[in-house]
Amino acid sequence: MDKRLFFSATIRNREFIGDVLARIFKKGGLILEIGSGSGEHGVFFQKRFPDIIWQTSDPDLIHIKSIISWIAYEELGRKMPQPLELNVENIPWKVPFNLVHSLQGIVSINMIHVAQWSCTIALFKGAGKLLKKGQFLILYGPFKIGNKHTSQSNYLFDNSLKMRNQLWGIRNIEHVNEEAKKNGFFQEDIITMPANNFSIIYRKVSF
Ligand SMILES: C[S@@+](CC[C@H](N)C(=O)[O-])C[C@H]1O[C@@H](n2cnc3c(N)ncnc32)[C@H](O)[C@@H]1O
Repeated sequence: MDKRLFFSATIRNREFIGDVLARIFKKGGLILEIGSGSGEHGVFFQKRFPDIIWQTSDPDLIHIKSIISWIAYEELGRKMPQPLELNVENIPWKVPFNLVHSLQGIVSINMIHVAQWSCTIALFKGAGKLLKKGQFLILYGPFKIGNKHTSQSNYLFDNSLKMRNQLWGIRNIEHVNEEAKKNGFFQEDIITMPANNFSIIYRKVSF
């Protein structure tokens, strides 16, 4: 049965995110995506970067089913592994050894503001344990800078997130960077994206 979900933002942001990824990715190896959601990004990036293997993951079983459906719909089953059921707070992450072996880096899109702050802490802790020196963690989404929203629309979006769940909300970039630093990451680049979003490239600089 077709269990595909459709997250409207993915169609608007995927080309722009892909252009950032193209600057960072090397040929070959595997990308682990955290909080893959519907799976639309996963199949899109798998097609855009045919030389890599795109490994999706999510803790939500409805999302896992959607990802499986998207992989089948796009006929990528021979290329893309099945999604991992992965909650960043369950550390160490259970990632099969063969996947870790070929890992290039980690990507997480629009996850940390739609989850409690402990998930940001856990994301860096888990990624810090999994990644080796030189590998990357890329985040995409809205951020506050100096504790201030970068636009009125982000301010309104933040309020709407908090109405859904008090623990959700747009994160302050300096706080995110502190968690990165604690786990051996350095903020290599921050790229302004359309619709008041950012892509942040973190590089693992210590073991
Ligand atoms: C707003 S959706 C974004 C989905 C997708 N990346 C996108 O951009 O369309 C946030 C995703 O983060 C996932 N998520 C929430 N808490 C998580 C956690 N503790 N560990 C991993 N993923 C989590 C949710 O299940 C959801 O799929």
